[in-house]
Amino acid sequence: MRSKVFNVIVIATTIALSGIIVTQYFWVKDALNIKNDQFYQAAHLGLKRVVNQLMALQNDTSTASKFYAKPNRHNYHTQFIQSLNPELIREMISSEFNNLELCETYHYGIYDKNTERFILINNKEYHNELLHSDHLEPISCIFQENQFILAVHFPLQQTYVVSKMQLYIILSAVFMLIVISGFWFVASSHLRQKKLSEMKTDFVNNMTHELKTPIATISVTSELLMNEDIQKNPERVSKYATIIFHENQRLKNQVEQVLHVAILDRGDFKLKLISLDIHELINQTAERFYITVSQRNGNIQKRLNAANSIVLADKNHVINVLNNLLDNANKYSPENPQITISTYSNKKGVFVSIDDMGIGMAEKNTKDIFKRFNRIPTGDIHNVKGFGIGLYYVKTILVAHGGKISVNSKPGKGSSFVAFLPFNNLKQSNNPDESRQV
Ligand SMILES: Nc1ncnc2c1ncn2[C@@H]1O[C@H](COP(=O)(O)OP(=O)(O)OP(=O)(O)O)[C@@H](O)[C@H]1O
Ligand SMILES: [Mg+2]
Repeated sequence: MRSKVFNVIVIATTIALSGIIVTQYFWVKDALNIKNDQFYQAAHLGLKRVVNQLMALQNDTSTASKFYAKPNRHNYHTQFIQSLNPELIREMISSEFNNLELCETYHYGIYDKNTERFILINNKEYHNELLHSDHLEPISCIFQENQFILAVHFPLQQTYVVSKMQLYIILSAVFMLIVISGFWFVASSHLRQKKLSEMKTDFVNNMTHELKTPIATISVTSELLMNEDIQKNPERVSKYATIIFHENQRLKNQVEQVLHVAILDRGDFKLKLISLDIHELINQTAERFYITVSQRNGNIQKRLNAANSIVLADKNHVINVLNNLLDNANKYSPENPQITISTYSNKKGVFVSIDDMGIGMAEKNTKDIFKRFNRIPTGDIHNVKGFGIGLYYVKTILVAHGGKISVNSKPGKGSSFVAFLPFNNLKQSNNPDESRQV
């Protein structure tokens, strides 16, 4: 997909998703408000019914006779309210609220506006809440309006209302999360693919360039060799033949390196595990690099301190691992490469550390260098050639042996790569020569 189209789709989807989230938020908020209103209406209805029951009680002649001491309806109403049994009120409220399925925790009281006090309250701690409650109902009679107010307070009203909608809220949050993570996954994997394809293009360009150089040299040199004058001069023949041999060797190594990645990617390579001395391999590999490094006025130091240096490993692959690490240490040291190879061992295996004092890397860059085709843009020193597959190969091979690799690097100071190969291969097998399919 063209990147412009993809960007437009990502932006449009992000806006649409944000819109859905905001709409969802307002829907939930509105739904909560409606539920709160319904709760309020139900509580109001419950209180009204309680007040109606009280009025019915007050008008009941048998009750009336008790309070009808003075022929004054005003006094009678006050006396009646003041003499109400708290237990009776509790029962009335409880039965009404139960019928209306209101929440079970509530506090109530009857407030006298004349004296500005509660003449009845079931929990004094909630005095203030009852005073400011939304659930109020006047207990009035025609002679006396609004002197007494029946007030109820629900301390868990909000929790109760939310709990009624819990399922919808959770479900919509879960669906939202699924949609967002799905979108995130698709977008990020597209970006990963895009990056990988860019890296592959870089790799192919790089490879073509790298292969062209030895091919051109071989072509020119072999043309020279065909020249009869040169053929008469054995010294020049030998010189040109050596050049062709070395360039061909270089070509072979490069092709092999590319083939390695194809094999690693398929994941079906076999390790030919044999018992080998890692110190011996280091000595052989370092020997070969010594010439290259000393031509650049550099040096390779060895501190082979591993008490036990025998591991069960694939010789060719381990040599390639060492080659790659030494090649990097040399390549990424702009001048006079100072390389140190040290080893040490513990109960579990051997550690091989290859340190240089080259250009180093920023910590954020070290995370990706073991992924295939990853090369750190090195500014001025971008002329350092490479395919970005050496460390991918190193890591894959070490992991296949049950080992690992780590890096410690500082820009401008140098890098230290530590490869680990375990002994446990030896313990697992009595047969010193064995193959392991990976
Ligand atoms: N010793 C080092 N010092 C500084 N940077 C390093 C060092 N080793 C590796 N790097 C960085 O890690 C990147 C990946 O290394 P890797 O060996 O995988 O690829 P390469 O050297 O670029 O190419 P090749 O496939 O030919 O080895 C390099 O491009 C370089 O930026
Ligand atoms: Mg390399």
